[in-house]
Amino acid sequence: MEESGIKKQNWDVRETELLLEILKDLDMKKCLDGRKVRNNKLFKVAHRRMMAAGYHRSVDQLKFRWKLLKSAYYKFKREPDSPAPTKMQGWRRYENAMVAIMESRHPLVGAGVHSDRNDEQTEDSDGEASMLPWPQPCPDNSTHNLDLIVKLDPDMDSQLKIGFVGAGNMAFGITKGMLSGNVLPSNIKVSAPSSRNLGRFQELGVAVTHSNTEVVCDSDLVFITVKPHLVPPVLSQISPHITDRHVVVSVAAGVTIATLEELLPENSIVIRLMPNLPCVVQEGALLFARGSHAKPDDVALLRSLLHCCGLVEEGPEAWIDIHTGLSGSGVAFVYLFAEALAEGAVKMGMPSALAHSIASQTVLGAGRLLRDSGRHPAQLRSEVCTPGGTTIYGLHTLEQGGVRASTMSAVEAATERARELGRLSAARSTK
Ligand SMILES: NC(=O)c1ccc[n+]([C@@H]2O[C@H](COP(=O)([O-])OP(=O)(O)OC[C@H]3O[C@@H](n4cnc5c(N)ncnc54)[C@H](OP(=O)(O)O)[C@@H]3O)[C@@H](O)[C@H]2O)c1
Repeated sequence: MEESGIKKQNWDVRETELLLEILKDLDMKKCLDGRKVRNNKLFKVAHRRMMAAGYHRSVDQLKFRWKLLKSAYYKFKREPDSPAPTKMQGWRRYENAMVAIMESRHPLVGAGVHSDRNDEQTEDSDGEASMLPWPQPCPDNSTHNLDLIVKLDPDMDSQLKIGFVGAGNMAFGITKGMLSGNVLPSNIKVSAPSSRNLGRFQELGVAVTHSNTEVVCDSDLVFITVKPHLVPPVLSQISPHITDRHVVVSVAAGVTIATLEELLPENSIVIRLMPNLPCVVQEGALLFARGSHAKPDDVALLRSLLHCCGLVEEGPEAWIDIHTGLSGSGVAFVYLFAEALAEGAVKMGMPSALAHSIASQTVLGAGRLLRDSGRHPAQLRSEVCTPGGTTIYGLHTLEQGGVRASTMSAVEAATERARELGRLSAARSTK
């Protein structure tokens, strides 16, 4: 029943690996007494981190997954030579991570493995999690299927081919993110008219070409990563080669799903994706909207591929322009703020290089704390404000300067501009 639960819930390899990385990082072994996981809080933190990475599991789902892994670990320890020590899908892949968690510096757990206690009882004693039904908080996760996982698992199958038409910064950022997951470089091909951007892809082991049609013919999933004004000519060039096996994902700002579907053959599977630059360091914020022919599996595929790029969310297409203002352009707003922070310090006498390095660390630290704590920014901000202290004086000055209103207006202006570009692009494509 447990195994069928896993299959139905379709944990993919990367998701399980991520959970184990997090549990290791949180020092899970300290919370084990050989029988039970004592620390509920640990799973709550793990849950927040998984959410931040785009995996929408409940705390109880994480506990249950851990329980299964622990069960597999015990079974494997008990019957290492058995041809099928555990029926758990892909157990061998997680063996090292489990051993690292269970056996490093925790003698009690290690001893428990070789003791005569009944491992099944141990697992049953893992608390209420074993009795819980599987909640279904995220329909997209529930659509991950084993075929898809097999496709993404380099050990099992390497058939999924990914192409990029356009080899600029965004293509590079997404490629790097995907390579840090389960995608092999040999499964990616990138095209651009010149060679100026292709070298860095070759360094990653990715195939390159000057032919867009070659990329399309060799790929199942095709990212359109050219500037928005080039989307109509590029799509009309590749359109004859798009078939029902292709999923076309456009990242072009302002180019609507309706425009994309109009420029591609009837019934083409289209997804509109809005990433942002921090994809390059796997800390992007990506929002996508599905086209009228995109199926749950296509969406699950995209999620699985992109989760290593950062936070991946789905929403209605109307939110894409807002996301552009909030996050695409928002990155530049944060840089401006970081620059101003540093310049304030320079004005007060700190050397510039040090001021910039401290400013960037401040932005990074504040961002991570905000994301990982899951708390409202106002709550975190108020905690830094000692009554009569330095921070409230500084905040008062910022409020006098209208920083809140101008930041809101900046998001509004960028969103409006994205909408305007969308209208222009739609008008161009109908000419
Ligand atoms: N950068 C961002 O922060 C960001 C955020 C969200 C969305 N986007 C979207 O991502 C898309 C790409 O932006 P980017 O910043 O990556 O642009 P970029 O760095 O300027 O890269 C554009 C790429 O397109 C290639 N290209 C030009 N004409 C082409 C053609 N006919 N066929 C195939 N490739 C062609 C260029 O080739 P060469 O290498 O030969 O010049 C270049 O590699 C844009 O639509 C943008 O709206 C960007």
